[in-house]
Order: sequence, then C-alpha cells, then structure tokens
Amino acid sequence: MASTAVTASVSLPSSKTSSLVLPSRTYISSSDKLTLNKTCLYTKSVSFSTRKLVTVRAQVTTEAPVKVKKESKKDDEGVVTNKYRPANPYIGKCLLNTKITGDDAPGETWHMVFSTEGEVPYREGQSVGVIADGIDKNGKPHKLRLYSIASSALGDFGDSKTVSLCVKRLVYTNDQGEIVKGVCSNYLCDLKPGADVKLTGPVGKEMLMPKDPNATIIMLATGTGIAPFRGFLWKMFFEKHENYKFNGLAWLFLGVPTSSSLLYKEEFEKMKEKAPDNFRLDFAVSREQTNEKGEKMYIQTRMAQYAEELWELLKKDNTFVYMCGLKGMEKGIDDIMGSLAAKDGIDWLDYKKQLKKGEQWNVEVY
Ligand SMILES: Cc1cc2nc3c(=O)[nH]c(=O)nc-3n(C[C@H](O)[C@H](O)[C@H](O)COP(=O)(O)OP(=O)(O)OC[C@H]3O[C@@H](n4cnc5c(N)ncnc54)[C@H](O)[C@@H]3O)c2cc1C
Ligand SMILES: NC(=O)c1ccc[n+]([C@@H]2O[C@H](COP(=O)([O-])OP(=O)(O)OC[C@H]3O[C@@H](n4cnc5c(N)ncnc54)[C@H](OP(=O)(O)O)[C@@H]3O)[C@@H](O)[C@H]2O)c1
Repeated sequence: MASTAVTASVSLPSSKTSSLVLPSRTYISSSDKLTLNKTCLYTKSVSFSTRKLVTVRAQVTTEAPVKVKKESKKDDEGVVTNKYRPANPYIGKCLLNTKITGDDAPGETWHMVFSTEGEVPYREGQSVGVIADGIDKNGKPHKLRLYSIASSALGDFGDSKTVSLCVKRLVYTNDQGEIVKGVCSNYLCDLKPGADVKLTGPVGKEMLMPKDPNATIIMLATGTGIAPFRGFLWKMFFEKHENYKFNGLAWLFLGVPTSSSLLYKEEFEKMKEKAPDNFRLDFAVSREQTNEKGEKMYIQTRMAQYAEELWELLKKDNTFVYMCGLKGMEKGIDDIMGSLAAKDGIDWLDYKKQLKKGEQWNVEVY
C-alpha cells in the first residue's frame, strides 16, 4: 500500500493563455507492449518451533465482508446539478481544441477547453450537456448530448473558469452503405477556438470522487471513458489543495484499440514519475497486445493478470472502483470478478450490490 506523501503540482498556464501543453499525438514505447504477468500470489511466511521457515497460502474468507454505511458523496452540499437547462444554456467559448490521437488511429479523439467564467461549477466526475448548432430533421433544435468532464474542478488553466471534454468523432456506415456523421461529436471536434458553445448541467453524481484521501481508487476506462479519471488524477497529482491531499493508491486501467489512440499517456506517465508509490498505470491495447493465451488484450484481460490482487483490494472498505466507457466492458469485468468471488464462496452479484450501496462500485457506461 502506498504511503509516500505527494507534493505534486505543475505550473498551469494562466487564464490569459489559451494554449496548453498537450501531446498532439500519443504513442507507447515498445517496452509497453510487453505482456507482463504480475498476478500476485498471496503468501505469508510462518515460523515454526523447528525454526524452519515455510511459506503457506493465506487463508481466504468464505463470507462477503459486511459493508459499513458511510457518509454519501452524493449528499455533499457543494455539488451543483442542472444549473443550466436546454431552454437557458450557458454560452461558453471554445478556447482550445486539439486532436489527441495519432493520424493512424482508428477514429479521432479531441481534447477541448471551454470558458465558463466560473458559472458552471462542477466537480470531478460530473458531465455537461452540449447542444450542437443547427436543427434536426424535424426542424427542431438538436437535443443535448452528454459528455463526461475531462478536467478537474480547477480546470486545465487552474482558475476554475474552464471545463474540458474528451470527444470521439462518431462516423459510421449505415445499412444503406452511406457514411453517417454523429451530430454533436462532429460539431464539437470541428469547433474552432473563439466559437460559442451551448452548455447545460452540470449533471451526475455517480462518478463523484470518494472523499477519503487515503482511499484506493481503481479506475477502469475504455476510450473516451478516460475523461472523468483525467479529472480525478489531475486533482490527486497535479494540484495542491488545502483540504485534500491524496495519499492513497490510484490504479488506472485504460483500454484503447491502438498505441496511437492512448489518451493523455504523457500526462499519466508524468504523474507516475511524481508519485510512483501512489499511482499504478496499466494499458490494454486491444489491437496490438495479447495475453499469454494469445487472446485480444481488453481491459478485463489486463485486469485478469492482477486478479487476486484486485480481489484482495476489493475486500477493503476504502477501495472504490469506477468504470467508464463502452457498455460491453461491464460484463467482461463482472466475469473475472465473479470467478474470483466464487473461489471465496461469495456470490459476486450480491457482493457487487453491497459495494454499490457503499458507493464502492461506480459505473457510467454507454
Ligand atoms: C453520461 C454520458 C457521458 C458521455 N461522455 C462522453 C465523452 O466523454 N466523450 C464522448 O465522446 N462521448 C461521450 N458520451 C457519448 C455522447 O453523449 C454521444 O452519444 C456521442 O458523442 C454521439 O453523439 P453524436 O451526436 O455525435 O451522434 P448522433 O448523431 O446522436 O448519432 C448516434 C446514433 O447513431 C447511431 N449509431 C452510432 N454508431 C453506429 C453504428 N456503428 N452503426 C449504426 N448506427 C450507429 C445510433 O443510433 C446512435 O444512437 C457520453 C454519453 C453519456 C450518456
Ligand atoms: N460516462 C459515460 O457513460 C461515457 C463517458 C465517455 C465515453 N463513453 C462512451 O464510451 C465509449 C468509448 O468509445 P471510444 O470510441 O472512445 O473507444 P475506443 O477508442 O474505440 O476504445 C474502446 C476500447 O475498448 C475495446 N472494447 C471493445 N469491446 C469491448 C468489450 N466488450 N470489453 C472491453 N473492451 C472492449 C475496444 O477494442 P476493439 O475496438 O479492438 O474491439 C477498444 O480497445 C463510447 O461509446 C462513448 O460514447 C461513455
């Protein structure tokens, strides 16, 4: 368990600066492509009267640990929801919009920063609505689309006056063989600095961070599902707060198709350099990596390599799991947790219900 105090802070660009040093593309080095099996064996050294030292497997529990009701993060007074609604959206300005996937990545993902002048007060883990310009096929204004906020509450410029998003451009071929562009994601990815943007919200309480600064926080993201976790991690490792100093363990699993679509990789590696005892980082690059059985490396495949360690962590009262991204990931993760729980004679779905009640299992998938 991590114990080193982190004094992490970065010099953030001032609010007058409309540029931010972000990778224009991401990559992974060849060493990252190695598939490591780090599954932990829980062993304990025991000394007998013969003075012979033997190693035995630690006993496993056969009952689900009882969860204690804690103060809910959702009751926190300062959490604002629905300040702006579609009828009266906040009009922000695009300050920056940059592609963060490589040219050879399957699809484009953009990081964008909008001005809020502090009028859209959000917490890490919340989402905002965006109403694209123009009208739909019925001549009505477009409906809002939700996007997870990808910045910490302080914002990328550190002045609480901006909100950032991480948006994948949706383009697909329909049954008639026509190329269709998603309305709002294409509107956002094409936005130029200086353009106005209609925002609603903020909304959502499921993905709020746990209050405990000593918690273990396991973050499971596929693709743009990384957005809320970038906010968490900036707060933990790049910022200084009077009332919050993270000294627990943050463990991020990020699943993407190719190394050129690894989002915010350089930022996360910087965090790891700053706080090696408090931050663990694992990538699952599905179209380039495989496990030892030659299976496609999905996020749950990577997690399976640490299965027992993750299961032990889940038994602790101050471990909080967050999942965000593709709907399909939830089942894969349930499957590995289910088989681990079964080894301890625990019914995973019952146990997950308890974890959810205690806000230790938080899911926002789509
Ligand atoms: C809480 C929440 C948070 C979200 N956060 C993010 C985020 O951080 N980043 C992000 O990029 N997205 C996020 N999304 C998704 C986002 O809200 C939009 O749904 C997404 O950007 C697509 O919207 P669009 O207007 O571009 O597409 P639309 O014009 O709304 O088109 C989408 C529709 O196209 C159809 N479609 C899509 N793909 C295919 C296909 N392959 N074949 C056939 N039909 C298809 C489906 O009917 C789908 O409903 C989030 C969603 C939710 C609910
Ligand atoms: N709060 C939210 O609800 C929220 C927030 C942000 C994003 N989202 C949604 O999350 C999704 C992310 O999509 P994206 O286009 O950004 O991602 P992406 O770049 O396509 O990456 C998704 C990764 O997940 C893999 N994957 C596919 N099926 C999987 C499964 N069943 N289990 C585990 N991994 C799987 C993909 O592998 P292959 O492609 O190689 O199969 C790929 O490596 C979008 O649908 C977006 O709307 C939701």
